[in-house]
Amino acid sequence: MMLGNELEDAFNRQILLEFEASMVYRQLAIEMDLRDLPGMAAWLRHQADEEIVHANKFIDHLADRGNHPKIGTVPAPQVAAGTALECFTSALEHEQKVSAAIRQLVQAAEECHDFDSRPLLSWFLSEQIEEESTISEIIGQLKLTGDDGPGLLRLDSGLSQRPVATTEADAE
Ligand code: FEO
Repeated sequence: MMLGNELEDAFNRQILLEFEASMVYRQLAIEMDLRDLPGMAAWLRHQADEEIVHANKFIDHLADRGNHPKIGTVPAPQVAAGTALECFTSALEHEQKVSAAIRQLVQAAEECHDFDSRPLLSWFLSEQIEEESTISEIIGQLKLTGDDGPGLLRLDSGLSQRPVATTEADAE
């Protein structure tokens, strides 16, 4: 069943937000590369790719339901990343913004009695919990590391181990 116009617009806004998230992670990756933290940069680039997967999941959902997915104008990423701690704090703040948007989408879908989007939105609710938790853990480790250079390099090396993912929505 097709989504109504209002809900289609809300899903399209979420597509834009996922692409925006991808650009935020790309910029943060650049900032970490510039600070000689290649492992963190690699982790952030993988996360940028995962955000494309998220956008594609919404695109596929709209297309499968006979709606029209549209990509809006992606704003330039505004991030503070003077240090690794600032970088991951920026990432967490953006994830919290995305989580809030997903909750609003759930509410809008429920109000429209759009039961068909429930499985997709439930997946995203769980995904946001996981993403916020992962980044919070990294922030906790960065705080423990403090000014300890070797500790920061060990953390950087650990984050470089993240497996490479595809950007296709049906890969998971
Ligand atoms: Fe697609 Fe990290 O939220």
